[in-house]
Amino acid sequence: MAEEWIETAEAAALKEGAPHAVFPKGLPVLLLRRGAEVFALENRCAHMGCPLAAGRLEGWLLRCPCHDWRFDIRDGRFADAPEISVKVYPAQLRDGKIFVRIS
Ligand code: FES
Repeated sequence: MAEEWIETAEAAALKEGAPHAVFPKGLPVLLLRRGAEVFALENRCAHMGCPLAAGRLEGWLLRCPCHDWRFDIRDGRFADAPEISVKVYPAQLRDGKIFVRIS
């Protein structure tokens, strides 16, 4: 499948550090804004699939609401076992909108 930048949300809809669920091409993705940076991760926990967008951000770690697994929003790695991870998508802020690259 070709890579494609998908418009997912208005930047103004993202509150600092608060996960925001979107569905580019029907995929479960969450957006997170920290300062001028925007991150996009798979919105499905690597443990049992809970939506990570309902979790809480603690520094760079997003805590799953179901059983407290924590994932680094920069690379998607599980904090306690980095060989486990959730998918991370390239994201960018452009013209007041958030774009995510899906491949
Ligand atoms: S489903 Fe996320 S920690 Fe269990």
